[in-house]
Amino acid sequence: MSASYPDLNVKLGPLEFKNPVIMASGTFGYGQEFDALMDLNLLGGIIVKGLSLRPKQGNPPPRIVETPCGMLNAIGLANVGLEVFMKDKIPWLQTLDTRVIVNIYGHSIDEYGELANALKGVEGVSALEVNISCPNVACGGMAFGTDPSVSARVTEEVLKNTDKPVIVKLTPNVTDIGLIARAVEEAGAHALSLINTLTGMAIDIESRRPRLANTFGGLSGPAIRPVALRMVYQVVQSVDIPVIGIGGIMDHQDALEFLIAGAKAIQVGTANFVNPCVGPNIVEGIRDFCRERGIAHIDDLIGSFEPA
Ligand SMILES: Cc1cc2nc3c(=O)[nH]c(=O)nc-3n(C[C@H](O)[C@H](O)[C@H](O)COP(=O)(O)O)c2cc1C
Repeated sequence: MSASYPDLNVKLGPLEFKNPVIMASGTFGYGQEFDALMDLNLLGGIIVKGLSLRPKQGNPPPRIVETPCGMLNAIGLANVGLEVFMKDKIPWLQTLDTRVIVNIYGHSIDEYGELANALKGVEGVSALEVNISCPNVACGGMAFGTDPSVSARVTEEVLKNTDKPVIVKLTPNVTDIGLIARAVEEAGAHALSLINTLTGMAIDIESRRPRLANTFGGLSGPAIRPVALRMVYQVVQSVDIPVIGIGGIMDHQDALEFLIAGAKAIQVGTANFVNPCVGPNIVEGIRDFCRERGIAHIDDLIGSFEPA
């Protein structure tokens, strides 16, 4: 039997991944932080922390609180900024033999374009993931992703300024995610990723103050998985471009649910805080599942959901 049996290779439009397991933005640093813990090249891909034109300190602490079956975060997109990213992070990322995707966000539509332009032609960057869905910043982020026409304009601006495939990351904090997905598809996006976090809050009953300095945060982890799965399934039905499923994936069984629902690939976020080596474990778990059931290619499993 060949070493590539079962074949886990997936194609998302112009983008090919050696397997469908990708580390989610904001939960895997710039990849290097995890280098001593695992062979990063076992992963399908890595999405780095959301990048902005200028460095950002983010929100004041406390920025993370644990909640039942999940966590709330209000990091506020803290990041090193474009200049340091290009100088200090890119050279190391270029040594990897896995897909590196840069997650970008701007405070205006023009800023998205500027960032995309700055990353044009940069070797080692396989694609851009456009965050129009962060709930923890005062301007930008989710404000773009909740309006179909603004979502489309951001997508067009990024496409105009890049030579790389463009994945647009959607927010679940909307009434009809299919509407936004179709608007972004019509604007020309190559793929969609969903979901980002759901807005939430927590209160300290002694002080009666918010447990996050920002009051509101984004809920992630297993608590959001059923919501995420439902949204991924609905969006898969609504668009023709590939969808990457995200939300509370803790192990290979969770990942398989999203793949069976029709996601072409999946991202792992909060699970990295529980077990930093979870990524390669999920790849292995999917491989074993396919091998044990005689599934020769992962594509035979993707979208194989049998509706009631
Ligand atoms: C601490 C933290 C930081 C995050 N930062 C980003 C970010 O910079 N950009 C982004 O698009 N998503 C960010 N996210 C959202 C995740 O990538 C992911 O969409 C979300 O957490 C749901 O997946 P999960 O339940 O597997 O964590 C962040 C999530 C967490 C928990």
